[in-house]
Amino acid sequence: MTIASISQLDLSKFPRRILLEGPTPIQHLPRLSARLGGINIFVKREDLNGLGGGGNKLRKLEFLIGEAIASGADTIITVGARQSNHARLTAAAAARVGLNCELVLTRAVPRFDTDYIDNGNILLDSLFDARVHDLPGSANALQFAEERAKELRAQGRNVYVCPLGGSSPVGCLGYADCAAEIMAQSNAVGLVFNRIVVPNGSGGMHAGLVAGFVAMNLNPSLITAFTVYGRAEQAHSATLDKANQTARLIGTDLLVDSTAISIDEAQLGPGYGIPTDSMRAAVRLLASTEGLLLDPVYGGKAFAGLVQSATSGNYVAGQNILFVMTGGLPGLFAYRSEF
Ligand SMILES: Cc1ncc(COP(=O)(O)O)c(C=O)c1O
Repeated sequence: MTIASISQLDLSKFPRRILLEGPTPIQHLPRLSARLGGINIFVKREDLNGLGGGGNKLRKLEFLIGEAIASGADTIITVGARQSNHARLTAAAAARVGLNCELVLTRAVPRFDTDYIDNGNILLDSLFDARVHDLPGSANALQFAEERAKELRAQGRNVYVCPLGGSSPVGCLGYADCAAEIMAQSNAVGLVFNRIVVPNGSGGMHAGLVAGFVAMNLNPSLITAFTVYGRAEQAHSATLDKANQTARLIGTDLLVDSTAISIDEAQLGPGYGIPTDSMRAAVRLLASTEGLLLDPVYGGKAFAGLVQSATSGNYVAGQNILFVMTGGLPGLFAYRSEF
């Protein structure tokens, strides 16, 4: 990996509204590494992105909000589950830049206690002054969002509709950028990662990282994702499609090969947003050994996958494993009864 190949990733032609304070740190976790038999665990602290409680979605929102502002939007609408971190951060970013924000949130996760319904992300959505549309789990949120956009446009408003998880190719650019950031940081200290582990929800973070690696002529199969949303086959084809669209947007003529996308469904459990024992154990392990907080829906399950891989011999002592910590702390309060 050379600095020359990093510089091939030029995203300056895309409208962007800076929301991050600069690169997020990569930290070594010595106590957890010792606990896992001498495998060197590092974390990329995407949870330390400061705005709105932080998290991975701010990377995508830099490009999405950039595009919204460039198109003259005065309103942004996005979709998600009731405890969506993406929705919360869209509301925070909209507040920061002075856009109106509407969130179309479905009851897709079968949890009906007051913590899930009223605490966590949904509490913050109201503080950021977003208008929430509360839909049943069976509703088509994106269709509702498009119809609402039509209604607002008829009133003279200029509306930008942002897809689930912010995972349009434009949103994925944020994680192509993060791929370059990771390589620059690891090069600066002479560190080589044997594996990069991420959660895969709507797939945009994974797709963006893969597209960034491909655009820099690096090996994207270094990245392993644990799906927390759909079955592996479905997540694989959606992520491959997004990675190719993002790579084309960046301007590389390299195709993302299907073998570049590695997705494990071992931690999905009964489904999206439904807790598992291994997630609960992983959240407790990282909190009690390193004082770091994972969320129960994404990072908790993906980190459980990392722990499972370490304890079953998939990684060996001395290897360097980078886990991308994506934030979502408010989710812990929505899932209080699980802990
Ligand atoms: C905390 C957190 N981590 C990970 C993800 C997964 O990112 P993606 O949807 O890009 O796969 C999300 C998505 O909502 C998230 O909120």
